[in-house]
Amino acid sequence: MEQSNKSGFNSKLGVILAAAGSAIGLGNIWKFPYEAGQNGGGAFLIVYLLCVILFGMPLLMTEMLIGRKAGKATFSAFRAISGSNRWQWLGWWSALTVFIITCFYFVVTGWCVNYLYEAVANSYAGMGTDELLTHFTANMSNAPKMIICAIIPVLCTAAILWFGVSSGIERLSKILMPLLLLMMILMSIRVLMLDGSGTGLRFFFSPDFSQLTPSVVMKAAGQCFFSLSVGLGLMITYGAYMPKEQDVTKTSFQVILLDTIVAVLAGVIIFPAVFAFGFDPAEGPQLVFVVLPAVLQHMSFAWLSGVAFFTLLFIAALTSTISLMEVIVVSIMELSQGKLNRHHSVLISAAVICVMVSIHVLSMTGLWSGLQLFGHNLFELSDTLVTTYMMPFSALAMSLFIGWFMPFQDNDLVPHSQKRYKQWLRPAFVFALRWIVPIAIILIFLNGLGIFKL
Ligand code: TRP
Repeated sequence: MEQSNKSGFNSKLGVILAAAGSAIGLGNIWKFPYEAGQNGGGAFLIVYLLCVILFGMPLLMTEMLIGRKAGKATFSAFRAISGSNRWQWLGWWSALTVFIITCFYFVVTGWCVNYLYEAVANSYAGMGTDELLTHFTANMSNAPKMIICAIIPVLCTAAILWFGVSSGIERLSKILMPLLLLMMILMSIRVLMLDGSGTGLRFFFSPDFSQLTPSVVMKAAGQCFFSLSVGLGLMITYGAYMPKEQDVTKTSFQVILLDTIVAVLAGVIIFPAVFAFGFDPAEGPQLVFVVLPAVLQHMSFAWLSGVAFFTLLFIAALTSTISLMEVIVVSIMELSQGKLNRHHSVLISAAVICVMVSIHVLSMTGLWSGLQLFGHNLFELSDTLVTTYMMPFSALAMSLFIGWFMPFQDNDLVPHSQKRYKQWLRPAFVFALRWIVPIAIILIFLNGLGIFKL
């Protein structure tokens, strides 16, 4: 990757903003509540939080440290660090995973665009629970409209990458993200005042351990990698632009804390509302897009709240799509061995993504919804494949690669601190990476696949 395109990252705040921008997105506000709703509420939350501490923290720190050490983005970093091409496949695996994520992520970003438009036009105002559900389905079956809605964010992201202004967007998000947080706090207060919200809070916060099946654990682990954008080596890119004196532990901790706060807050808005309005928590991917309009209608300044919320959600999604599409752009440039420049690569990626996103939209509408594999359409298949299998697998490979095969001296790649109270950090970190992360992921896999019973 050309360093020049990322200029502006050379400040501490820049890296934190970019990493947090990549992490916080639809994964927190759309995916987390729907996964929690389908997988036992409180039980899912507990496992999720455990995974964040056990997997998210060591992996995020490592990725940033690798980047800082290698001073290079993902692909070249693997080669530079291992000194051979043996681990190159991991780079390609990441790129493939990111590509699949990008395809369905833009579809959901398109839903945001659609609801932003509806918020402006005030068209979901006054709808009840059932109406909101049929309204969503009606929207989805309008393929041309949904394709246009999904292509708009593809073009926005491509434009941002083309002009190399992503650091500008991240700076903008410094103002907008706190606003999103504020908006979500106001919404949660409103929701908690609704009759019957207690049931939702209990569903989300008091774990029913009988719900804790192997597949719930697998989904929660996958969701942790997805939400933190961790395990694919993506954060290596951000580490590469990190000033040497920046405290990696602190930066990762801040990113993780912010990401988790946003996810939990999304749950605090969605679940009380689900029970108060009579939705089904296991509604699936459409969950938040039917519940949020219901909540927003009940806010004071309803129109303004709706427009503000969906605008902020769209920006949060964009800072994530920037980080996703950037990987694809860089991969194409690497693949062409320098024959294609950044602009060519942005054009090619945008074209391919537009086609793939359209196919994903069509897979959900009447036209192609008959085409199913394992009982899922293409959209659900991409979503599940990535979250439950591909991301945990690459996180496993990454921890083995770094923990066991890295020829560098440990010193460079583990966080260490002069402060005495932080002395435990280094051994704990090495131990987590070498043993806890790989063994736990393998056990979760075997358990989830029914090969091994925990
Ligand atoms: N973490 C983002 C979210 O929660 C999604 C995302 C952006 C992502 N970049 C990624 C996920 C890279 C995996 C890998 O919305």
